Amino acid sequence: MEKKDIDWGNLTFAYQKADYRFVSNYKNGKWDDGAIVEDSNIVLNECACIFQYCQACFEGLKAYTTEDGSIVCFRPDLNAKRMADSCRKLQMPVFPEDRFVEAVKQVVKANEAWVPPYGSGATLYIRPFMIGTNSVIGVKPADEYQFRILVTPVGPYFKGGVKPLTIRVSDVDRAAPRGTGNIKAGLNYAMSLHNIIDAHEKGFDENMYLDPATRTKVEETGGANFLFVTKDGSVVTPKSDSILPSITRRSLVQVAKEYLGLKAEEREILLSEVKDFAECGLCGTAAVISPVGKVNDHGKEICFPSGMTSMGPVIKKLYDTLTGIQMGRIKGPEGWVVKIK
Ligand code: PLP
Ligand code: COI
Repeated sequence: MEKKDIDWGNLTFAYQKADYRFVSNYKNGKWDDGAIVEDSNIVLNECACIFQYCQACFEGLKAYTTEDGSIVCFRPDLNAKRMADSCRKLQMPVFPEDRFVEAVKQVVKANEAWVPPYGSGATLYIRPFMIGTNSVIGVKPADEYQFRILVTPVGPYFKGGVKPLTIRVSDVDRAAPRGTGNIKAGLNYAMSLHNIIDAHEKGFDENMYLDPATRTKVEETGGANFLFVTKDGSVVTPKSDSILPSITRRSLVQVAKEYLGLKAEEREILLSEVKDFAECGLCGTAAVISPVGKVNDHGKEICFPSGMTSMGPVIKKLYDTLTGIQMGRIKGPEGWVVKIK
């Protein structure tokens, strides 16, 4: 199979249309068999629930070419489970978790020519999503849905690759206590769009959202969880019911303990203690682990000792181990790396 003629090493995190996508529709109370299709467009009635009341959720995972030339993906069962949680909370029908994993494999296989080669620095981003498709005008859930998986080859999420980021403390809240912060609902991202443009215009890479109830605790950014390293080398990550349970973060906590012999703990983290940490990073499927060099709290700068030129030593070890597992250079825990081809 011949790969697409793409300058893999210079890809950014942007959509380009691959050849195939997976589509399944829900009607009369059941999902159809689903199929791999070529059409990248969706034609819907103007009053479809997705357009009026934003009934949508999504997932994100990646396929990698490993050192031995296999194509694999990382913990797709956890994406299937998280999407099921999102669906339940948004009154959408769950796409069965085993079928989700099978569909991911099917769509990646169909798009093998788009899977970036080993060592190119690029990966195939996989975006499963679900939308309410029939028309509703009163506020109520749709009766018909589409589950679709698109794929697109991507490079680093943040421009500059591993250059440390500058984050500002946000004045806007992302998710209410007991709200939708812990699911991957499109509406959580809609609210972040104005704030991310505003951050960029003011020279910041991302927003640090605080807990809305007290505005004293660190939650997450618009698209990734935080990870901190203490001065004595322990890993700590924020615990909150209103952040997305990142699969990358949960994996890194396990990697820290089992592969690197570090202490790692999920706990509430006060904004006031951020100045005491040695290293900070953003973690997620798209972000992998992107180092943070500086947090700006309303003009007051918190500069991590790891600096603004490279990753701190612990974050670097976590990055190397996690990507080593994903790319097949290091053996991962049972079930983490799922072979597609
Ligand atoms: N937090 C938010 C708001 C996200 O959008 C993402 C991306 O999926 C993450 C965290 C990281 O989650 P994961 O590691 O499962 O990709
Ligand atoms: C991911 O990391 O998969 C995300 O969904 C983050 C962002 C692209 C929304």
